[in-house]
Amino acid sequence: MTTSTHAWPRLRSLGLLSRIGLVFMVLTLLGGYIISGIFLQWEYENRDEREGLTMTDIVGAYHGVSSPSPLLDAIESGHPEDLPDPERQALIDWLQGDDLNQNYDNFDLGDMAPAEIIAFSCLDCHARGAEQGEGIGDEVPLEYWDDIQPIAFSRDVQPKNTRIVALSTHVHAPSLSMVLIMVTLLCSMTRWPGVLTGVIASAGGIGIFFDIAGQWLARLDPLWAYAIVAGGFASSVGVGLLGALVILDMILPSGKPRPESADS
Ligand code: HEC
Repeated sequence: MTTSTHAWPRLRSLGLLSRIGLVFMVLTLLGGYIISGIFLQWEYENRDEREGLTMTDIVGAYHGVSSPSPLLDAIESGHPEDLPDPERQALIDWLQGDDLNQNYDNFDLGDMAPAEIIAFSCLDCHARGAEQGEGIGDEVPLEYWDDIQPIAFSRDVQPKNTRIVALSTHVHAPSLSMVLIMVTLLCSMTRWPGVLTGVIASAGGIGIFFDIAGQWLARLDPLWAYAIVAGGFASSVGVGLLGALVILDMILPSGKPRPESADS
């Protein structure tokens, strides 16, 4: 312990203006992290056309996701049994086509417009409060386009192309690791026990490594998407904690006389 206090200069022995400067630099750094966290959420939450940021959004971005539309699935697998073949085929063609939104109630299709077929063949059960269908009408209503849209689209999310991932690595690998290196060094010059800095720094360092590596490895195996999330979380929490410790050290009054001055 004593050797380490000798080896490391202390932030608190810096002049007042330098400390004020450092407090604001670290504050700016932490603010930047918070903003980029919010930005990431916006950026990824809609990849899978479902609300909110989910693992599928992340897997979609780095590995790609494809899952067929639940509506198409049900109809192709022969549900409901008594749907006549032409109607079934019309719904399948519609769901496999491009303009789902436009063609849903396309006037030109007459009785074969999806909205008409659904009204006629499905709403006995799939309407809110329907008497038939054992309550499926409340679970999976098909009354309006807004009900249908979430289950109509097949999800086929393409991963970001390698150029984009390379660009992002090129920007983020050096900058994010430099930030961690800086806050780790700064925090080593505070009053806080070295082991505290050490635990946070190692979690953050391992985190940032797997966050970046995971963005490449996820192309091969979607499980690596969890490394991206866990690693990104560990490294940003690490930066946050180390930064907060640095700020606290500089603004809190020093308790006891500094070991350096006591020793010398
Ligand atoms: C006789 C009542 C009835 C009719 C008519 C009916 N359904 Fe269903 N539907 C059900 C029931 C009950 C379930 C839940 C059990 C199951 O999956 O079979 C269901 C399940 C579904 C599901 C799966 C929901 C999910 O994701 O779990 C879809 C999609 C669906 N129906 C679409 C349709 C469409 C489209 C039509 C009209 C072309 C239709 N249904 C007509 C009773 C009905």
